[in-house]
Amino acid sequence: MLTIIDHPLICHKLTIMRNKETGTKDFRQNLDEIGGLMVYEVTRDLPLHSVDIETPITKYTGQELATKVVVVPILRAGLGMVSGIMDLIPTAKVAHIGMYRDEETLEPHPYFEKYPPAFADSLAIIVDPMLATGGSSIAAIDMVKKQGCKNIKLVCLVGAPEGVKAVESAHPDVDIYLAALDDHLNENGYIVPGLGDAGDRIFGTK
Ligand code: URA
Repeated sequence: MLTIIDHPLICHKLTIMRNKETGTKDFRQNLDEIGGLMVYEVTRDLPLHSVDIETPITKYTGQELATKVVVVPILRAGLGMVSGIMDLIPTAKVAHIGMYRDEETLEPHPYFEKYPPAFADSLAIIVDPMLATGGSSIAAIDMVKKQGCKNIKLVCLVGAPEGVKAVESAHPDVDIYLAALDDHLNENGYIVPGLGDAGDRIFGTK
């Protein structure tokens, strides 16, 4: 299922990120902040279990998260979404999937993967700011599923309809979350209106 997390704070921050005049520091800071705002909504259905504690006044049965959470950034742009998410879920572990896109064929090529113990029983939140053709996301979901993980969510900042459709048809069981669904992909595989190359803008490379 596709969820567009439509919130005035997210729209405001995303507009700053889209602006070509925004520099690396502000781009990164707004991405962090949006990551935190999005994960609040992404984790809304996490299961809880009961835990007995004592308040300073009395015994109390509270609730704590019943699922381990693993954030899975697709390198390298996905790294830009990790810290905002970790601020809200500091106990989360981080897996890494290294993927680069062939600039001519636009095909994804995995070159690195590393997962924490008990990954298969965790909720995997795969993060990548741009859902363009969907190729990298589909490959990353394939890799995560190969580890035995069944509970997977894909969280991107901006998506193109082409990428959403591709992920939905390859992995209909994976929920997709976006801050914005843009218009289309251009002939170079960039999202329009988009925000340019997310990796370059996060890391100040070109
Ligand atoms: N990757 C990006 O960084 N930007 C796009 O617009 C598409 C893919």
